Amino acid sequence: MNFQVRPLHPLFALEVEGVDLRQPPTPELVRWIDAAMDRHAVVVLRDQHIDDDQQLAFAEALGPLEPMQAVVDVHRQRLKHREMVDISNLEVDGSILAADDRRRMFNLGNLLWHSDSSFKATPAKHSMLHARLLPPSAPNTEFADMRAAWDALPAAMQEIARPLVCDHSLIYSRALLGFDDFTPEEREWFAPVPQRLVRRHAGSGRLSLYLSAHIGTIHGWPRPEAMAFIRDLTEHATQREFVYSHPWRDHDLVIWDNRCTMHRARPFDDKKFKRDMRRLTLEDSAPTLEQAA
Ligand code: OGA
Ligand code: MN
Repeated sequence: MNFQVRPLHPLFALEVEGVDLRQPPTPELVRWIDAAMDRHAVVVLRDQHIDDDQQLAFAEALGPLEPMQAVVDVHRQRLKHREMVDISNLEVDGSILAADDRRRMFNLGNLLWHSDSSFKATPAKHSMLHARLLPPSAPNTEFADMRAAWDALPAAMQEIARPLVCDHSLIYSRALLGFDDFTPEEREWFAPVPQRLVRRHAGSGRLSLYLSAHIGTIHGWPRPEAMAFIRDLTEHATQREFVYSHPWRDHDLVIWDNRCTMHRARPFDDKKFKRDMRRLTLEDSAPTLEQAA
């Protein structure tokens, strides 16, 4: 395909210029992107002047979408497609969310290193985040390569981590920031799900650490010991050598593989400036415990 590509980091992440997603994607383009994702884990498509419908058509061509987003205050949503996650600081009417708004408190969880939807029984495969409106001095989004982090883990740690199963929940990640304002219905909806701590990345055959702020315990371990171990692994996995920090440009569409990367938002003055980003998320094939180890 006639694109210009450029690596963005020594380990992973690829920039692509020359794709135009205003046209429905051809099968050839879908195959090319799938292959690029399996290899590079983060793909940045520059200059995508697309609307919600075009973003949706592209995502649907790549694979089955997550049917439901996991948010608080479902009845107060700004976007027309219910599969689309509103990664913004905006109210339904387009004004900036109040500082103490529950949706803002909840969204602050994105500042923690995580893998999208690791708290769902069948978690996310790819996320596709489109920059519609960036604030001045827009904050980067950071990505960490969990295959490289696994490869670099000392053998003794690999041996301990390899068979472990963790419970993930949105309630655990929000608790890390002191947010516990969930309704009984949300508590039920966000009940913990088990995931392997080490998984084989189906796209490349490589092993990968499956870490996320959503982890709240390790099966069979006392909780403080589990959390200390997870924190240690997370510190290891997010050392600068494993991290690509993405400086956003207008109209970037960034696709990342949640099976083998973590990511986090960085802060900005979200009480003063608007940031409008929209995400669609592909669903993985099965719960990680049902996938090949
Ligand atoms: C996400 C996310 C980070 C950001 O869209 O899933 O975590 O910088 N975004 O907005
Ligand atoms: Mn995320």
